[in-house]
Amino acid sequence: MPSGTTHTLNGCLQILCSGESAPTHRHSASAIRFIIKGNGACTVVDGEKIPMKEGDLILTPTMMWHEHSNETSEPVIWFDGLDAPFVDLLNLSFFDPYPDGKQPITKPDSYTTKRLTMAGLRPAGSRPEANFGLPFIYRWEETYQALTRLAALEGEGDPYDGVVLDYVNPINGGPTLPSLGCQIQLLRPGENTRVHRHTSSAVYHVFRGSGYSMVNDERIEWTQGDTFALPPWAWHRFGNPTSKEAILFSINDKPILEPHGLYREETKE
Ligand SMILES: [Fe+2]
Ligand SMILES: [Fe+2]
Repeated sequence: MPSGTTHTLNGCLQILCSGESAPTHRHSASAIRFIIKGNGACTVVDGEKIPMKEGDLILTPTMMWHEHSNETSEPVIWFDGLDAPFVDLLNLSFFDPYPDGKQPITKPDSYTTKRLTMAGLRPAGSRPEANFGLPFIYRWEETYQALTRLAALEGEGDPYDGVVLDYVNPINGGPTLPSLGCQIQLLRPGENTRVHRHTSSAVYHVFRGSGYSMVNDERIEWTQGDTFALPPWAWHRFGNPTSKEAILFSINDKPILEPHGLYREETKE
């Protein structure tokens, strides 16, 4: 039986101290990094050097070479999300160290951002490359702008999640990665969501503010920096009793379930 934060997902916290680096490697588990604290450390994904800033989401699709380094004077901390328990269950866990030191930088600075961040436009003929996920970067500045713009619109928001955005594949509009979805969610001051349950599980990280979740009969109080898991088919709702906005980043396994007709949702008053 695989072990993880949920039965399909791992949520981890990783710190890279000043001067530290993690060597180049790749694995069959897909990974995401959501930067919680610290600016200026770098990750290299598939030959592109990517500076990390607080609130950024950086993707490492399956079997893509990656490494990290922190040449700043401060530690950097990120939330690491992986589909490793699901991949383990399939007996398909592969891990390779890079055979020859560090992977070379093969792409110009901001390559992905220049190529793929014009909403509604994509390079012609690029669809096949998107099927296994892209090494994409979602910058916090744009994410927060989109979130607050939506929150300011009268009547916008989901009754069960508040104001919530999916991070989508910029080429095919599909999930963040083929086996891992990511969301960013804002609970307005005083907001209480309605109760529902679904067959997908999730791991949440509290990026800003504080509030609580009711999961079945358990009340989970959370505040900035906390991480909590939501098992599949558990009744849940969210509350923000404070006077400040609360922002939750989360990963989920919905993309694994949907293509097989296994995603289901129920609501109650
Ligand atoms: Fe890794
Ligand atoms: Fe939910």
